[in-house]
Amino acid sequence: MCGIFGFVSTRELPVALVVDALRTLEYRGYDSWGIAYATSERGGERLAVFKQAGRLPQTLPPLPTSPIALGHTRWATHGGVTDENAHPHLDCSATLAIVHNGIIENYRPLREALEQVGHHFRSGTDSEIFAHLLEDSLQRARRVSESTFSEPPGLLVEAVRQAFAQIRGLNAFIVLHLPSRQLVAVKSTSPLVIGIGREGVFVSSDAVALVGHAEQIYYLRDDEVALLSPQGPRLFDRCTGELRQPQWEPLTLRPADTSLGGFPHYLIKEIHEQPHVIERILRERLDGARQLAELIRRSYGTFLVGCGTAGYAALCGSYLFSRIARRHVNAVIASEFKYQEHFLTDRSLVIALTQSGETVDVIEAVQAAKRRGATVAALVNVTGSTVARLADFTVPLSAGPEQSVLSTKAYTAKLAILLLVAHILNGSEHVGIDVLWRAIDGMELALAPATLDRIRAVAEQLVNAEHCYVIGRGLSYPTALEAALKIKEVTYIHAEGFAGGELKHGVIALIQDGSPCLVFSPLDETRPDILSGAMEVRSRGGWVVGISPEPDEAFHVHIPIADVGDASPLVAIVPAQLLAYELAVRRGLDPDKPRNLAKSVTVK
Ligand code: F6R
Repeated sequence: MCGIFGFVSTRELPVALVVDALRTLEYRGYDSWGIAYATSERGGERLAVFKQAGRLPQTLPPLPTSPIALGHTRWATHGGVTDENAHPHLDCSATLAIVHNGIIENYRPLREALEQVGHHFRSGTDSEIFAHLLEDSLQRARRVSESTFSEPPGLLVEAVRQAFAQIRGLNAFIVLHLPSRQLVAVKSTSPLVIGIGREGVFVSSDAVALVGHAEQIYYLRDDEVALLSPQGPRLFDRCTGELRQPQWEPLTLRPADTSLGGFPHYLIKEIHEQPHVIERILRERLDGARQLAELIRRSYGTFLVGCGTAGYAALCGSYLFSRIARRHVNAVIASEFKYQEHFLTDRSLVIALTQSGETVDVIEAVQAAKRRGATVAALVNVTGSTVARLADFTVPLSAGPEQSVLSTKAYTAKLAILLLVAHILNGSEHVGIDVLWRAIDGMELALAPATLDRIRAVAEQLVNAEHCYVIGRGLSYPTALEAALKIKEVTYIHAEGFAGGELKHGVIALIQDGSPCLVFSPLDETRPDILSGAMEVRSRGGWVVGISPEPDEAFHVHIPIADVGDASPLVAIVPAQLLAYELAVRRGLDPDKPRNLAKSVTVK
């Protein structure tokens, strides 16, 4: 989940460039940060390292220029959040610096063995092991080189291959080798993307950090090692060491895609982008939706899998397919999928829902499906990601970079595609298109100042709440779960989403005087029952906020939304997203970087 970045150039570039890239990557983890670069200050070339626990400060003392540098922003796994555990880590000779994303699963025996042969560790991380392993491999390769290898680049790649072969787990590394002034990138599952630009060669765990630096990019594969020298990158087969010819592609992201665009936070920017995202889907993804519908039609058993917000999109998808296409589709949390994969055959279709395409639980679900011969489709936002590459068929979400840790626009994008696919399966594509255009208008209305005023008034009431309950039925049940997740992850208020019908089976015991309860009540078949539930909460002292096209006596506060039929989950979630944002701001919390979280969950 960490963010890693490096550059190498024929000329001196500002080291501050690495810090700026880390700011872009900070969504991947923000427990600590650090940089390393080659410097000739104080005579002789050496590695300068600066690292510290905590977030990147707004201002830093001026940094020098250097022809080679790398940096890291950390989501701690092994080793506490301390300055020593921040990356980069050095080998004993301080000529190798490494930054790491992942977990070295066999770190214990490796560390013991390295300590026994005299390596001195400065941190409690698993990551540092790689620097020392590499130091050893390099020494061994040097000894052998007298007979086998003739030039240092070959040596370095060989040493990285050897060291990487010894570790287990899903890992990505950038190595800075001071003597040869080169970087090496290597990975297994965790993402790395290489960029070539006018100023040099760059490497990052996400293409967003290459914007403004690279024109051409290449997503490194698991079976490759990249050697990045000032003259350019070279790729090698990780098993054989043979040279490879990568297929470079243009970097299509633009600075505007990754900037705040006048908004104070990415979360609110991305909430506001949702109508445009749905419009883009209607313009660009109809073909993809039709092909996915065909895959579903031909399959015998379809599974929607995802985690967190994407898991709720999957659940909502199962309701949409049921009511629109009269089709049973299973929704499974990706991390639980491997315990249910026994149903899969070569006629099954597994549809992975994922914004990042790097969520390890989703990757494992996809791999399990492939092992059993199932077809894998993916609704994925990051097009070069691991899931996008593993899938047999992909419908890109077209949501643009989602930089806030909270998923918003990728959620509604997934719902829009699933709704379209359900209508296509039902033979009512035009109805699906029409209802999504209505949803776009409905989202605009939910984002309008009049609605926002009501949401802000609710936020004022809830700002000191400890608990909050959210209920919905049918199509609105996944909405209730997703609304509660948005509130809890960014405000730290304990928010629980429930199926409205479950209230009286236990949950209602929690309701007491003033307990806030959000109620989703679209004008569908769930309305009478969900309003009864709301009334039952109100009678027990609960404070009821209704998110609904129409008012009702059960509501203390009514947040009006448009009536958009089956697209109601796309519209109803918007006030809840806004409420979560408004609460976070009022509670003095950073809406883009909630504690303990990171955007790409690449560890188990
Ligand atoms: C919540 C959130 C997470 C992600 C989940 C899956 O706001 O962002 O629950 O939805 O970690 O991530 P992706 O979609 O990248 O697989």
